[in-house]
Amino acid sequence: MFYKQLKEFPQDFLWSASTSAYQVEGAYNEDGKGLSIQDLHHPTNGITDFKVASDHYHRFKEDVALMAKLGLKAYRFSISWSRVLPEGKGEINEKGIEFYDQLINELIKCHIEPIVTIYHFDLPLALYNQGGWNNRETIDAFVEYSKILFERFGDRVKYWLTINEQNVMINHPNAMNPGKVPTKKELYQQCHNMFVASAKATILCHEIVENGKIGPAPNITAIYPEKCNPSDVIASDNWESIRCWLYLDIAVYGRYNSLVWAYLEEKGWTPTIEEGDMEVIEKAKPDYLGVNYYATATVAAAKNDGTDCQPRNGDQQIMLGEEGVYRAAQNNYLEQTEFGWMVDSIGMRVTLRRIYDRYHLPILITENGLGAKDVLTEDGQIHDDYRIDYLKRHFHQARLALTDGVDLIGYCPWSFIDLVSTHQGYQKRYGFVYVDREENDLKEMKRYEKDSFKWYQEVIKENGKNL
Ligand code: BG6
Repeated sequence: MFYKQLKEFPQDFLWSASTSAYQVEGAYNEDGKGLSIQDLHHPTNGITDFKVASDHYHRFKEDVALMAKLGLKAYRFSISWSRVLPEGKGEINEKGIEFYDQLINELIKCHIEPIVTIYHFDLPLALYNQGGWNNRETIDAFVEYSKILFERFGDRVKYWLTINEQNVMINHPNAMNPGKVPTKKELYQQCHNMFVASAKATILCHEIVENGKIGPAPNITAIYPEKCNPSDVIASDNWESIRCWLYLDIAVYGRYNSLVWAYLEEKGWTPTIEEGDMEVIEKAKPDYLGVNYYATATVAAAKNDGTDCQPRNGDQQIMLGEEGVYRAAQNNYLEQTEFGWMVDSIGMRVTLRRIYDRYHLPILITENGLGAKDVLTEDGQIHDDYRIDYLKRHFHQARLALTDGVDLIGYCPWSFIDLVSTHQGYQKRYGFVYVDREENDLKEMKRYEKDSFKWYQEVIKENGKNL
């Protein structure tokens, strides 16, 4: 649809940016922090581990000052579970609480709304060693941990996100399981346990945090059929439900998606649902939906002949296919990033429209951005015009989605500052702020504003009116 005039971004639009604790903080074993599963990563292929990251733990004041200079209205970050509870439960590490207290106070002082993700991929190692999400006691630990956060920070933090990309943790389990990769049956049990944990935290947030708003933050994307062949459409529906709707249907409607349930039954992967689980899940009502969007996916009908799953390296955005369910297909209408992720700004509008049409809840884009090999010039510049171009196109589509009637409340590009990418360390950078370090040479970690920083600063200043 062509519009004569596009809607303006609302005056209180949350122009934001994202990070996650283990990818940005460093200080992995300081001030009483316990280890998380991410701390077990050993540098491979020259890629760094997460031990020092961007040293935000020690430089948060300087970083918040940069956020203020950028003009951010909000900042999405996650709390490290094992910094607050070194064993995942039990004794609180007051030093950990102190760090987040100071960070939140600094943000508030700069009029930046804190948006907190409770759990972003960094399960405490102590819990992992006791079975992790296979063990229902992890549900209780998550609730205990969430309660501490609501009680300690709920007077200042009003926007909460329960679990980052639960769907990625289930569909791409390698990075979350330093020991043995769980079977699919185990993964769907973990998934169910996380559903119960998020639901309990959602209910608790509403009880404890005055005017608190809480929602999930899965990685959602529209799935396209390769052709208008109805069998391709069936395959794309399959994958869209398994990858996306399962997670939001549970959060919003409190029930398992019927297509996914049929799939789980067929495979013998249905989870054990204990008495009371579905009541809790149904009772928990999110206030908004966090959506991480990077790229759409395109699929073709499964052949079910042993060749549907392709033997190549996948990641959270690169599909492999699944035998008898769908095959990965090429989309020749789209470009790719240098790391093989599809670039599809219009696909973001499609995704937002589908989500809003299905759930009618406010949407916060909790992640979206371009990972690239940035270059620091001798005179301290980073000319990331490719990132500006990427974001400009996506922001424009966000404005179109808003005009389409989607209740979009904010946009948190990934990431505020360079941080450790989950697979490519500092070779793949996302930030508006450059951190001068290499994979294995920490240098001084000086911060530099990229060209995209200045561009985003303008966007925020004019409330997106030229997008
Ligand atoms: C999302 C995650 O999947 O994508 C982030 O929530 C991650 O933690 C981001 O960093 C970008 O992915 P990558 O693999 O390039 O770091």
